[in-house]
Amino acid sequence: MLKVDHASVHFEADDGRIVHALDRVSLDIPDNGFVVALGASGCGKSTLLNAIAGFLPLSDGVITLNGKSVVGPGADRGVVFQKDTLLPWKNVIDNVALGLKFAGIPKLEQHRRSAELLKLVGLADFANAFPYELSGGMRQRVGIARALATEPDILLMDEPFGALDSLTREQMQELLVSVWKKTGKRVFFITHSVEEALFLGTQVIVMSPRPGRIVARFDLDFVNRFAESNDAREIKASPEFTNLREEIRALLHGAHDIRSAAE
Ligand SMILES: Nc1ncnc2c1ncn2[C@@H]1O[C@H](COP(=O)(O)OP(=O)(O)O)[C@@H](O)[C@H]1O
Ligand SMILES: [Mg+2]
Repeated sequence: MLKVDHASVHFEADDGRIVHALDRVSLDIPDNGFVVALGASGCGKSTLLNAIAGFLPLSDGVITLNGKSVVGPGADRGVVFQKDTLLPWKNVIDNVALGLKFAGIPKLEQHRRSAELLKLVGLADFANAFPYELSGGMRQRVGIARALATEPDILLMDEPFGALDSLTREQMQELLVSVWKKTGKRVFFITHSVEEALFLGTQVIVMSPRPGRIVARFDLDFVNRFAESNDAREIKASPEFTNLREEIRALLHGAHDIRSAAE
């Protein structure tokens, strides 16, 4: 279980004012959970992810992973960002193997595990290619394989498909669902696309800015239905999906009112 308990993060802006980027956010990500944080730019989504990753300290509250307090980065959390962080001078398989190399795993085993992961993300034939030879979607697939290589407990993904064209983006969503189902990893995923959030999440949390808070939570089943039917279009066109999408859009546009109402 990943547990975020009343987490707050305050930044001091250049003019000395305090920015409440995250305000008493609590959330649980159970085994096999796929939790999506949804919200407009600036509502603290990346701050929350970076705190879970251990890249930045909380001002208040605690984050625990399997009962252990998060105090810094660790191999138990794999991170994927919007911009790929592949090393351009290394080929695909060596990029995937990077974390294993740092962990001191023998070269043969590094390559065996990395080749398996490349198969998982549909890039078995690109092991020897270099990043510049790959499309944006393929580079993100390498990023996912690399994040999985050290066998983390959770995948942390900060708008990983935000820079992709819409068709590639949908293909990547479907690929991620299959990776999630096959590996059984828990996932924390950030997006500002309502449709992406609804399609992927077993739970969607909607955030509002300044201070960054959770204003609504939804438990969803669309992703499990997709895993069974493999028909994304049918699910996204269903009245249940489109109604909820409009409801959440309205909520996001009126997030400020909702927040005041909750106080
Ligand atoms: N290092 C920082 N110093 C000061 N303010 C920051 C810093 N990082 C983020 N912020 C502010 O915190 C708020 C939340 O930022 P962020 O978590 O990046 O939002 P999101 O990812 O939802 O777009 C924003 O108002 C942003 O300007
Ligand atoms: Mg962000």
